[in-house]
Amino acid sequence: MTNQIEIPPAWERLPLENFSGVLMVIGAPDTGKSTFARYLYTRLCASHERVAFVDGDVGQASLGPPTTMTLVVRQCGETEFPPGGTRFRVFVGSNSPRGHMLPTVIGLYKLVRRACELGATATVVDTTGLVSAEQGGHTLKHAKVDLLEPTAIFAIQRGCELEHILVPLRRSARTRVIDLAATPAVRPRDPTMRRAHRAAAFRQYFADAAPLEVPWGRLAVFPAPVFSPGRLVALEDARGFALALGVVLEMDAIRRTLSLLTPARSLEGVDAIRLGDLWLDLATWEERRRWDMGPACEETKRET
Ligand SMILES: Nc1ncnc2c1ncn2[C@@H]1O[C@H](COP(=O)(O)OP(=O)(O)OP(=O)(O)O)[C@@H](O)[C@H]1O
Ligand SMILES: [Mg+2]
Repeated sequence: MTNQIEIPPAWERLPLENFSGVLMVIGAPDTGKSTFARYLYTRLCASHERVAFVDGDVGQASLGPPTTMTLVVRQCGETEFPPGGTRFRVFVGSNSPRGHMLPTVIGLYKLVRRACELGATATVVDTTGLVSAEQGGHTLKHAKVDLLEPTAIFAIQRGCELEHILVPLRRSARTRVIDLAATPAVRPRDPTMRRAHRAAAFRQYFADAAPLEVPWGRLAVFPAPVFSPGRLVALEDARGFALALGVVLEMDAIRRTLSLLTPARSLEGVDAIRLGDLWLDLATWEERRRWDMGPACEETKRET
């Protein structure tokens, strides 16, 4: 985040002092979306008192652990990025929107709505690199446009890989498409680097974590109390914002309690537990699918 960035002349020419509302940044993986989004945020601070930044990338998240999306709002006069204000977070429960499009779109909407409630007059939304038509990239981006109603979309392309998303948007009055070319300064990350980045981010997030006993029988559990060791969960407040993540260590089906490894020190403000679709190996912080966890992975019986 402190790396020196190259600012292409095309970025400098953008008349950003005239922009407000929700501003979405889209592009394939490794096109410089997050770098441009931070630049956009900084430029908007010159003409807006309250600027919000939403990190909407659950895979290579920049403001929170993977599987989450995070909102932060600039406090008066702050110039640093990221700003130091309160963070609001939603838990998608996966490192990709694939198979999790509803929670991704709804979560992003909750964060943008919160930014509005907090008085932001410009909100930058950084997004995931899921754009391919085969994987439903157009459905995802169009759903975000319909729900978030961005005044502009900054579309960063190498070639024409976004056109299947952009063609209808260019003809519609619902938003404005601003085309940008991906800069050669981008340093691509291969899948191994991306996995290692996520493991490092989880390790850092759980660095101060300790076991916490959670009486899940007294809380709402979404979608249902099917716990197993290593499963990633979120502790949510009554508005569905994630207060902290946790990893299931042990569960007691009789007492209806869980032992959760979490940075949360208490259950104050916790309304619900939301189960993720990801399991973590606590020795390496690498992601595991449930079927990799072995036969010892016994589930609690469903509540009837
Ligand atoms: N204009 C730039 N000047 C210097 N470095 C850049 C620039 N744009 C991107 N980079 C570097 O390239 C790498 C990838 O950039 P960035 O994270 O912005 O891309 P992205 O499209 O958001 O990637 P992802 O698909 O993982 O979300 C980062 O290390 C970033 O510092
Ligand atoms: Mg990014």
